[in-house]
Amino acid sequence: MDDFTGKLAVITGGASGVGRSLAFALAGAGARVLVADVDATALAETRAALKAAGATAHTRACDVTDPSSLGELAAFAFDALGGAQFVFANAGVASGEAGPLWGYAENDWKWCFEVNFWGVVNTVNAFMPWLVEQGDESHLVITGSANGAFLVYPDQPIYSATKAAVQVVAEALFHQTSAPGNPVHVHALFPGPHVVETGLFNSSRVRPKRFAKPAGAPDTGIRSADDLRRLMEAFGTKLETTHPDEVAQAALDGIRQGRFWILPLTSATESQIKARTEAILARTDPPAPTIG
Ligand SMILES: NC(=O)c1ccc[n+]([C@@H]2O[C@H](COP(=O)([O-])OP(=O)(O)OC[C@H]3O[C@@H](n4cnc5c(N)ncnc54)[C@H](O)[C@@H]3O)[C@@H](O)[C@H]2O)c1
Repeated sequence: MDDFTGKLAVITGGASGVGRSLAFALAGAGARVLVADVDATALAETRAALKAAGATAHTRACDVTDPSSLGELAAFAFDALGGAQFVFANAGVASGEAGPLWGYAENDWKWCFEVNFWGVVNTVNAFMPWLVEQGDESHLVITGSANGAFLVYPDQPIYSATKAAVQVVAEALFHQTSAPGNPVHVHALFPGPHVVETGLFNSSRVRPKRFAKPAGAPDTGIRSADDLRRLMEAFGTKLETTHPDEVAQAALDGIRQGRFWILPLTSATESQIKARTEAILARTDPPAPTIG
């Protein structure tokens, strides 16, 4: 697929960061976009910005933890807008867990899994029947993370666990849609190659009350890439970052080239993935990765 003109792209978590950049990149390539997000204020701002840029843009309030919310989004895309050729299961959060794993608040686990894992499963369940039934070539892009899919950072086990689970869903779905004649192409998008400057560190802005972090529960206190940069500098390490627009362009290129793995990596991260894989095969202790 290399012609996005007039096609409809649905993006969950599309009102910030990677999702917002995807919306602009897709609109820039001629697609119509349907941006879905739980953050009403950011959604309104994104809609106005897309319209000001001349895009054909629709927005919809959507909570990916709620299957019926995604069912309504899919019905809107197919019944009202005539079908979708691109679906990005992109919404994600970080719980800000800190310290020993056995001391984390249960709600940190639950919220992160509800959005990152169940959000992807709910999106797949809501859209796959429509995409298969539609019959035209379509693309389902699942946003994962090398953090969890390939590497296990000792300080973010909740986030990593969700993304390890998401990788299994993406890869299994790839196999299940690989039969000849299946119109749906599955892609796994790994934002990077560096930490991407988005709102992810400040996910608590959209954290619902039912998953509230209890007072006094361990928290990183990091609310932005700049906070992380300062912390790393205090330990004598430099943080490099990637702009989300770069991730969006990589996603479009990956779709054009028909690649499952949309995986920009630094040479340091690539070496760490190799080292972990070699340790598995050699049955030696897993090496701890560092942000690269
Ligand atoms: N930032 C990075 O370095 C990085 C690296 C690897 C993977 N990712 C992944 O990229 C994806 C996008 O995150 P981002 O970095 O752009 O962060 P972001 O916070 O800028 O964007 C995430 C969006 O998801 C929305 N969202 C949160 N909960 C939701 C819910 N229940 N329903 C619907 N929308 C919801 C937020 O409102 C926000 O607009 C996530 O899956 C994240 O895990 C990010």
